[in-house]
Amino acid sequence: MLLPLPFSMKISVIGTGYVGLVTGACLANIGNDVICVDIDDERISNLRRGVIPFYEPGLRELVEQNAAQKRLMFTTDSQLAIENSDVVFIAVGTPSDGNGKADTAAVFQVADTIARFINGKKIVVVKSTVPVGTCAKIKERLSAQIKGRFGFDVVSNPEFLREGEAIQDFMVPDRIVIGADNGEAAQKIVALYKAIERTGRPIVVTDLQTAELVKYASNAMLAARISFMNELSHLCEKVDADVKAVARGIGLDSRIGSRFLQAGAGFGGSCFPKDVRALAQIMKEHNLPSDMLDAVESVNTRQKLSIVPKVMKLVPDLKGKRIAVWGLSFKPKTDDMREAASIAIINELQKLGANIAAFDPVAEISARKIFEGISYAETPLGALEGAHALVIVTEWDLFRELDKAKMKELMAAPNIVDARNIYDPKDFREIGFSYVGVGR
Ligand code: UGA
Repeated sequence: MLLPLPFSMKISVIGTGYVGLVTGACLANIGNDVICVDIDDERISNLRRGVIPFYEPGLRELVEQNAAQKRLMFTTDSQLAIENSDVVFIAVGTPSDGNGKADTAAVFQVADTIARFINGKKIVVVKSTVPVGTCAKIKERLSAQIKGRFGFDVVSNPEFLREGEAIQDFMVPDRIVIGADNGEAAQKIVALYKAIERTGRPIVVTDLQTAELVKYASNAMLAARISFMNELSHLCEKVDADVKAVARGIGLDSRIGSRFLQAGAGFGGSCFPKDVRALAQIMKEHNLPSDMLDAVESVNTRQKLSIVPKVMKLVPDLKGKRIAVWGLSFKPKTDDMREAASIAIINELQKLGANIAAFDPVAEISARKIFEGISYAETPLGALEGAHALVIVTEWDLFRELDKAKMKELMAAPNIVDARNIYDPKDFREIGFSYVGVGR
């Protein structure tokens, strides 16, 4: 998907995590010269050999292609990268500290590195998700160290990349948000995205703090929709309504829209849980109540655990029983296990004495670092052998079209907890399965 280039810029991207690497590869792909920097030697030497540190469809090909065409290079030498670029992206992590606040230490460290090696006018673009006001603080910090020797601007350009869809989200975004307090700097970054804007994608230009807030508010709004539906799913179960049909019924209202209304085992990942907490924390720091955000989080924690009583409804005594779990990553098309619902569910099932046989098409390696005492099957059907129940935690596509009769034959008891509502209950009940979904 090589787009026509208006002109190319010299860019460095600091941090080759998920966001940094996708950003670097995509910016190279639209014709810029990009240097990706990381302090992790092994990661950089792997990237030079085309080895991507996580699973993201299409990324390896994009990296290989752009590296071969010499638009994308990898280094641990931040001085070399900064000196050879006009635009420096900060794309390092901002994990939750113990209190739900975003830890911005790595972001400020990169700012200090930029101040140290700056050799001419630069635009510093903050891609990392940072609390409102951080870009202004970065600006102050750079000013204090650069002391007028070189000009610089700070621009906020939050990312909206979904894992598993990141390249598409970068190349064909719903919108691009650019925050700056200097019109000229904003326009330079707008120009960087010209190739994408040309395909009809809108760019929202605003001030620094608004752009920072748009990022948190987007994730929090999406998470709120999910928690709303999850809360409603319990009422659906009581009154015999179907939450999937409720989602369809309300989603067809164009003011609401149909996406992110799927009830299930709760949201996970490196972003929603962390960003909901961080936004609540920012509200508290401003002495504002954060009731909605707090509820989004607590409903979600409850939702993950609410899958366990569903299993017990089908298998009341779990001691020594084999329970198959399909899907471990926090969502399909990724091997990311951060805050995955599978963690809360499997830990609880194990406490109740169950033996877990898990299958995930890509997350097994990451899962092995988290779980103890569970076995892994090589195929979905392999996990079912002798199982007293199957729990579907992550809705990988390959689970959708399996031979139901074969599934039943392999299991010790035909029980399914479909925690992502991927099946039509009728299809399973018809052949003798006991089926429990979420909110239906
Ligand atoms: C999310 C946002 O969608 C991106 O726009 C954002 O850039 C990214 O966070 C980030 O801040 O970096 P991601 O965490 O990759 O992306 O995953 P999503 O596809 O948004 O899913 C998040 C969670 O919500 C998953 O656990 C998923 O299973 C769950 N979900 C999603 C539901 O339970 N129901 C739904 O209807 C949709």
